[in-house]
Amino acid sequence: MSEDFEIVVLNRDQRFRCKPGKSLLSGMEYQQSKAIEVGCRGGGCGICRIKILSGEFEGKKMSIKHVTQDQAEEGMALSCRVFPQSDMVIESDHFQTTINKQNNERIVT
Ligand code: FES
Repeated sequence: MSEDFEIVVLNRDQRFRCKPGKSLLSGMEYQQSKAIEVGCRGGGCGICRIKILSGEFEGKKMSIKHVTQDQAEEGMALSCRVFPQSDMVIESDHFQTTINKQNNERIVT
């Protein structure tokens, strides 16, 4: 039987458990945690962006529109595209989300 991984969200002072094979974001939702913002769940919106401080994971392809190569090297990732393979320590909310009032588009910077 495989063990869940513990995910610590440092800057939110929260933690949740994530089952092997689940994305970090879906693991968080399964535990009814609200430590990370949820959007499209498929890598398209960039709203679930996090910074990975430690831990092993498998990352699925992410658009450079949301995570550039430089940002990826600094640990930035989309939590819906990250599949933990060990306990992890992350940060969320290190970015600002604003709404463009003209077209209701969310802008993540
Ligand atoms: S929820 Fe949209 S990119 Fe992750």
